[in-house]
Amino acid sequence: MDLLLKNIGLLATPVGSAARKGAGQRDILLIQDAMVGVKDGEIAYAGPTDESLKSADVFDCGGRLVTPGLVDAHTHLVFGGWRQKELALKLDGVPYLDILKAGGGILSTVEHTRAASEAELVAKGKALLSEMLSLGVTTCEAKSGYGLNTQCELKQLRIIRSLDKAQPVDIVPTFMGAHAFPKEYAGNRNGYVEHLLTEMLPAVVGEGLAEFCDVFCETAVFTLDESRRILLEAAKLGLSPKVHADEIDPIGGAEMAADVNAVSAEHLIQTSDGGIRALADKDVVAVLLPATSFYLDKPFARARDMVDAGVAVAVATDFNPGSSPSLNMQLAMNLACMKYKLTPAETLTAVTLNGAAAIRRAGSCGSLEVGKQADLVVWDAEDLEYIFYRYGSNLVHTVVKKGDKICLS
Ligand code: NIG
Ligand code: FE
Repeated sequence: MDLLLKNIGLLATPVGSAARKGAGQRDILLIQDAMVGVKDGEIAYAGPTDESLKSADVFDCGGRLVTPGLVDAHTHLVFGGWRQKELALKLDGVPYLDILKAGGGILSTVEHTRAASEAELVAKGKALLSEMLSLGVTTCEAKSGYGLNTQCELKQLRIIRSLDKAQPVDIVPTFMGAHAFPKEYAGNRNGYVEHLLTEMLPAVVGEGLAEFCDVFCETAVFTLDESRRILLEAAKLGLSPKVHADEIDPIGGAEMAADVNAVSAEHLIQTSDGGIRALADKDVVAVLLPATSFYLDKPFARARDMVDAGVAVAVATDFNPGSSPSLNMQLAMNLACMKYKLTPAETLTAVTLNGAAAIRRAGSCGSLEVGKQADLVVWDAEDLEYIFYRYGSNLVHTVVKKGDKICLS
């Protein structure tokens, strides 16, 4: 073994290489007095303490809780500027979509992202990723969508690729040119959709810059038909569909996501019973974003109904400068427990294995099992309930990423 983590008070992990749903979401493996052994960056042993295991590098976990590294399956990580000036408007009750319609919101971040240099965006991205890592995140997804022209969408995606190489957190890239209509195409929706399909998408695919294509399917943003058209064309070119669905209005985004065989549907605040059934029938992972409900002061998605209906539920941050300025997965976990009424075990699965499934990484991370990447968190906690109970503090003691110990406190 290259590294042996001993004296683990409690090892808690979901099991398997696919999303867990229904009762399976809370059926996690719990081992008291455990050990994890690492060889070549992968887990070589995860089980009860076995005194015969040896390594030159032994790390004493001091009786603490160990879980898989957190997977943040929905972020808008690379952007110029911030939007704290919108706080006052929000407090005055101005709706999110009205701010966007007036040229603010996403469009103001587009201006700042276009104006920012690559070096600036890389430096900002590195700092954000280092904060994410210190909070326990070992893998995340990152969407483009603040360029809204070919040049700047490619710039964002190339930055995501360099950031992936430059620091320990693995980043999975998603093309989201369909995040809003840029001002150059005001009043010409069709023109932008054509531009996206004939220019942006082939350029992104040509450079191999994305694995997924996402669309903001919403009132006054992309219609169901526009979203379907974009996602089907992207799928033909090899990008798997994801959908921002039913975030603000229940326009049938979840049903459409199921229809195009999306890997995941995200937000789902307003999803109907029919939408929940459609997700369950087609095995679409529901990526729920409780920090967005909190910050937009909106209802919380019907996570309990979804789990009970057999939908695999993941929980992520939606980190972005407008609707979710927090990158703290521990906050998202706490909100999931308190507001979605998911149990600690269900929530653990939601932020590890099911998050990994939402970005097609369930075969390599998301659980502590032999052969998976050695991505794990040692928590300043003696049991699983404690990390949901002591909300507001960073309870990470140590992160291990591909077998490397990081952020030792
Ligand atoms: O997931 N809904 C669309 N996109 C983001 C918000 C982006 C922004 O406001 O800048 C979201 O909430
Ligand atoms: Fe989002």
